[in-house]
Amino acid sequence: MLLVSAPILGVPEKAALSQVIDSGWLTMGDRVREFEQAFASMHGARDCVAVGSCTAALHLLLHALGIGPGDEVLVPSLTFVATANAVLYVGATPVFVDIESVDVPLISVAEAEARCTTRTKAVILVHFAGYLPDREQWQRFARLRGLHIIEDAAHAPGLREVGTFGAAAAFSFYGNKNMTTAEGGAVIARDPDLLDRVRLARGHGMTTGTHQRLNSRTPQYDVTMLGFNYRMDEMRAAIGLVQLQNLQEWNEIRRIIAVLYRRLIADRCPAIVIPFSEPRTSAYHIMPIVLPRYASRQDVIDELRTQGIQTTIHYPPVHQMTFYRERFPGVSLPQTEDFAERELTIPLHPQITSAAAESVVAALAAALKTGALKAGAQRGTAA
Ligand SMILES: Cc1ncc(COP(=O)(O)O)c(C=O)c1O
Repeated sequence: MLLVSAPILGVPEKAALSQVIDSGWLTMGDRVREFEQAFASMHGARDCVAVGSCTAALHLLLHALGIGPGDEVLVPSLTFVATANAVLYVGATPVFVDIESVDVPLISVAEAEARCTTRTKAVILVHFAGYLPDREQWQRFARLRGLHIIEDAAHAPGLREVGTFGAAAAFSFYGNKNMTTAEGGAVIARDPDLLDRVRLARGHGMTTGTHQRLNSRTPQYDVTMLGFNYRMDEMRAAIGLVQLQNLQEWNEIRRIIAVLYRRLIADRCPAIVIPFSEPRTSAYHIMPIVLPRYASRQDVIDELRTQGIQTTIHYPPVHQMTFYRERFPGVSLPQTEDFAERELTIPLHPQITSAAAESVVAALAAALKTGALKAGAQRGTAA
């Protein structure tokens, strides 16, 4: 099966894992610290905090910013459910905002403005598919209203601009991301006090960790806040350090494949819309395409599947999930809903060859041709 995403793991990761096992120190040691410094430095930040997941990173950030019951946070619905869940974890209310358009499936500033109230405290910008929103526009928006900007950068590691929009950025190293630690995440915040609060809350609010106490005269510690266990372990950090060395090259290969897909699809399947037609900074995390209205998405999925090509959907909108629908009924986001009904994600990762990309597009072209014939026949029958 040609997968939508696939981690690249090999001898260096195995060697790094063996070294951790041989060292006998399994969590929150030198490797976690080294990974934090290397990850921060790649993003031009002074420091970062490694955590167990991006979900944990988002939760810690909202918590550290003091967002809680009675507060509202603007979020896209075109995202993974974790973005909205994190808002509920702190007792605040996620307010779903529509995307700009099918071409720019990023949260719309105009829609965000319409949904702001006196209770709005923050906006979470999701760098969907790896593409960055307009930073100056969002900074103006947030400054005028005194809002925090949090970047959900699960799709966009390795870009210098990420983490510079506002308060902070949260990253994911889950297995399908541009770099992986299996599970894992990180927080970049340029305000050292905010980062300190995140660091403290990551480990139960304890003033020192086990490793620090090993290197100190006193085994004492204090607990100064209600924190969580969102720590990263040494195995993950060791894999992360190896992966980080390849991240820029992998992102570049993703870019080249995305450009190739654009050209092939424009040539062979002109009825397909490829979002982000205008150039924009991206980490090219996934390759979303939007099918023409006449095509049955399920038929296209089935056709590609019979040819050994996996496809997925990014995303079933969060406001339409049973839990959210029941909790926040009546939310209508026309652009998000239209996009989500027609979106299909085709394989994009650094191991995809140009021949594989060509076979994906050939399969798409064949599936659309069958779809067009079927639609024509149905129209004929109806007439
Ligand atoms: C946009 C987005 N936000 C948050 C997450 C959550 O990441 P994690 O699995 O590391 O908690 C993901 C993961 O898929 C994601 O795609």
